Amino acid sequence: MLDNAIAAEPVPPPAKVGFIGLGMMGAAIAERIRAAGHPLVVHNRTRSKGASLVAAGATWAFHPKDVGREASAKVVFLDLTDARAVHRVLFGRNGLVAGLPRDALVVDLSTIGPSDSRDVAQKLGALGLHYIDAPVGGSVEAARNGQLLAFVGGSEEDVARARPLLAAAAQRIEHLGPVGAGTSMKLVNNLLMVGDLALAAEGVAVAEGLGLDRKRTVDILLEGGGYSRILELKRADFEERRYPPQFQLHLATKDLKLVAIAARAVDREVRIGKEAARMAQEAVRGGRGNEDFSAILEAALARRVRRSPTPETSAPAPPTGPG
Ligand SMILES: NC(=O)c1ccc[n+]([C@@H]2O[C@H](COP(=O)([O-])OP(=O)(O)OC[C@H]3O[C@@H](n4cnc5c(N)ncnc54)[C@H](OP(=O)(O)O)[C@@H]3O)[C@@H](O)[C@H]2O)c1
Repeated sequence: MLDNAIAAEPVPPPAKVGFIGLGMMGAAIAERIRAAGHPLVVHNRTRSKGASLVAAGATWAFHPKDVGREASAKVVFLDLTDARAVHRVLFGRNGLVAGLPRDALVVDLSTIGPSDSRDVAQKLGALGLHYIDAPVGGSVEAARNGQLLAFVGGSEEDVARARPLLAAAAQRIEHLGPVGAGTSMKLVNNLLMVGDLALAAEGVAVAEGLGLDRKRTVDILLEGGGYSRILELKRADFEERRYPPQFQLHLATKDLKLVAIAARAVDREVRIGKEAARMAQEAVRGGRGNEDFSAILEAALARRVRRSPTPETSAPAPPTGPG
């Protein structure tokens, strides 16, 4: 009898988690959180990108502010292009902060600069709100499979609050220090990842110029001292010269700019990264910004060393012998 009475007690529905920014990464991560049993309230600037989540049961919010009001778990994820988008979503018209209750936590998956993260945390803190930076390593496929690496900055309590939700999409969660530590690590990671691929692109372009076969060059590089993990991941793109977007080139150039700014702020220099940024920008100018960052190969292949033709008259006189 008593057992029956306990069994009949209504179980409260799980609290809703908010998610804003349903681009390539956001949609995949939100889906992982939903599939792990957390109901969602979602918003995206372009509504159509929320359709499959809504079809799967997520609640659509017309404005970021409404996400804040409806997220009963008092946790809202952001996954947006850059710091400008983060500011707009949080503090713009009908922004998230207008709907968030005190003590709510914003988990920012966007790759922005560490000073941006600290600035946002300070503004939210002044409103009694909490913030952690939690940009992720790994791309869309890793997000879909729950294999991301989360680089996290924030207080112990805030990170502990976010951890079970982050674990739905990330197999490894690295708490690296206070707010800004996550974005710092993420930018250093991307400096190496993009810089490495830029160098591989340069190598392949030079090899081709020297008459070597592209596919064979890549094969040999991947078996020897020239091995690069990112080249291995992008080898099909390089071989076929097709760049279906996973991590768009314009985002990679953003990250190289951000790491240069972050380095300068602490009196360090990004030199090789600057060259990689120049190459990436050339490919963006060539109309490839929305393709995968592996399209950096096209900049390397298109590049020619410009030699100004030497006018005959200015040619050095041939040696005339002694005397
Ligand atoms: N793709 C990757 O492999 C990868 C991996 C790790 C980290 N990241 C980082 O994760 C973030 C998202 O990347 P993604 O690949 O998902 O990019 P994406 O597909 O281009 O998505 C960007 C998201 O930001 C939104 N957004 C941009 N500007 C906005 C604004 N002014 N106001 C409101 N919303 C705005 C977009 O809304 P709309 O849909 O309306 O455009 C979209 O939801 C970036 O910071 C990126 O650097 C990406």
